[in-house]
Amino acid sequence: MHVRQLLILLGVSVGLAYGSLVPNHQSVLVHKSDEQGLSYSGSPQLRLQYREPPPNLQYKCGPKYGHCPSGTCCSSAGFCGTSSAHCRSPECMIDYGRCDAHESPDGPPTEDIPRPHLGEVPYAPYEIRSCSVPGTIAFTFDDGPSRFTGDLLELLDRYDASATFFVTGINNGKGRIDDPNLPWAELVEQMISGGHQIASHTWSHEDLSKITAGQRDDQLLKNEAAIRNIIGSFPTYMRPPYSSCLPESGCGHHLADLGYHIVLYDIDTEDYKNDSPDLIQRSKDIFDRALESADSKNTSWLIIGHDIHEQTVHNLTEHMLKVSKDLGYRPVTVGECLHDPRENWYRADDRWAVNKTKKHDHSPKHLLQPKNFTVPQVSLDGTCGANYTCFGSRFGLCCGSNKVCGNTTSHCGYGCNKEAGYCSVGVPANGDALDALDSDSAEAKRVRSEADSSLRVVGSAALTSFALALFVAMWM
Ligand SMILES: *[C@@H]1O[C@H](CO)[C@@H](O)[C@H](O)[C@H]1NC(C)=O
Ligand SMILES: *[C@@H]1O[C@H](CO)[C@@H](O)[C@H](O)[C@H]1NC(C)=O
Ligand SMILES: *[C@@H]1O[C@H](CO)[C@@H](O)[C@H](O)[C@H]1NC(C)=O
Ligand SMILES: *[C@@H]1O[C@H](CO)[C@@H](O)[C@H](O)[C@H]1NC(C)=O
Ligand SMILES: *[C@@H]1O[C@H](CO)[C@@H](O)[C@H](O)[C@H]1NC(C)=O
Ligand SMILES: *[C@@H]1O[C@H](CO)[C@@H](O)[C@H](O)[C@H]1NC(C)=O
Repeated sequence: MHVRQLLILLGVSVGLAYGSLVPNHQSVLVHKSDEQGLSYSGSPQLRLQYREPPPNLQYKCGPKYGHCPSGTCCSSAGFCGTSSAHCRSPECMIDYGRCDAHESPDGPPTEDIPRPHLGEVPYAPYEIRSCSVPGTIAFTFDDGPSRFTGDLLELLDRYDASATFFVTGINNGKGRIDDPNLPWAELVEQMISGGHQIASHTWSHEDLSKITAGQRDDQLLKNEAAIRNIIGSFPTYMRPPYSSCLPESGCGHHLADLGYHIVLYDIDTEDYKNDSPDLIQRSKDIFDRALESADSKNTSWLIIGHDIHEQTVHNLTEHMLKVSKDLGYRPVTVGECLHDPRENWYRADDRWAVNKTKKHDHSPKHLLQPKNFTVPQVSLDGTCGANYTCFGSRFGLCCGSNKVCGNTTSHCGYGCNKEAGYCSVGVPANGDALDALDSDSAEAKRVRSEADSSLRVVGSAALTSFALALFVAMWM
């Protein structure tokens, strides 16, 4: 065959290959909305990621086709591949291939940590939809941390406002929140030091009513371990993704066993639908109308927003803070608006503190061994201390400062004896006790990681275009 003909053939086949790949790729990437209308598109960063090199695999997958080849991910449109568009949760199909959801945080699992139901606030399956302390307003932000969260924390600081973050462990292709090479862990530490509350929005944002009990365990326990790796404790408050926890799925009682409060809301800002300068006024209107309808002296509010949306962070929230302060509301955390003492918001994992010190100071080896949860003898008369533990006693799990076993906040909260039972105290009241991360600020890291990923995408797109242009140029 003539060399020229051979080259034409090659050019045509590359063109065809590209043409056949691109449509599939795009179908994987259609803007997807779930039942709640939660849109995961909209930010420039996400749209850029969508233009990664075409997937190199063409296997179909899903309920009709089955599982992807080992190690590959099944996208929401039913194609196997390994790009972040295929593997990012929650769109990636967890039953038909690998997904980000299947990654695990470091460290020991949290499943053995006791989960007593402390305090007066109802636990699952009850769904909390409103605050109880008059004059309070609880702003809550789901799905983060994201690249906008740092700005939100600054804004809240400026208004002297506390909020609650329902954090998701590995959604939207952001990587694990406890990965020390990503900026998320530092943002979570900043939430604690800024006086905000951290709650769980599950590991990868699956619908808890549509998965098995084992998968539901994974969704809660993995996020617990990841948050524990950052702050030493994990939350007792959670919000189910899509607000979905249907009784017939067993979700509510499962969350009760895991010791969670389920928190919904009474004002939905619908910020996820309105993430553009032209539309965000609609969310402001929803908020304003609700607040106009009542008096701050005898009313409180529980607001839902999402810190993954630009307009929420850079426009809507400041508006809501101004209006609510003008009307006399106090912006507080969910725990505060329910009058729940801070020590009930988290469960401590004592094993964590041991490794955290290892990372930053070079303590002797014997300190690295996991602490003993079991102390010799179970208390038989309800007293506890050096030689008697409340674990396994019929008087309650915690040994209070008065050396008596019990389940109440006064036993499990501040002053609780960690050597002689379970304690719920773990997170410091401010950031002083948390050691600062080594060098760079979150801001610097965030900017750098964004720049890197944009450069990679632009780089690979440029290479592809260059190769195509070369072919075209050869025949003109
Ligand atoms: C602490 O370090 C030990 C040894 O490296 C490890 O086995 C254990 O899982 C770690 N614990 C946590 C909480 O990371
Ligand atoms: C204390 O809480 C534990 C765990 O929830 C429970 O099993 C136990 O029965 C409780 N004890 C008392 C005395 O309330
Ligand atoms: C903020 O929202 C208003 C509508 O409420 C809009 O007119 C304005 O352009 C937005 N500002 C920014 C910076 O997006
Ligand atoms: C709240 O107070 C206002 C007047 O201050 C009153 O008109 C309204 O009925 C009260 N609402 C409730 C729910 O008590
Ligand atoms: C933990 O407890 C067991 C049994 O009481 C004991 O044999 C062991 O030495 C303890 N380990 C540590 C590190 O204290
Ligand atoms: C605990 O037991 C040890 C050894 O049996 C004993 O020396 C010590 O006094 C006991 N402590 C208390 C508070 O009873």
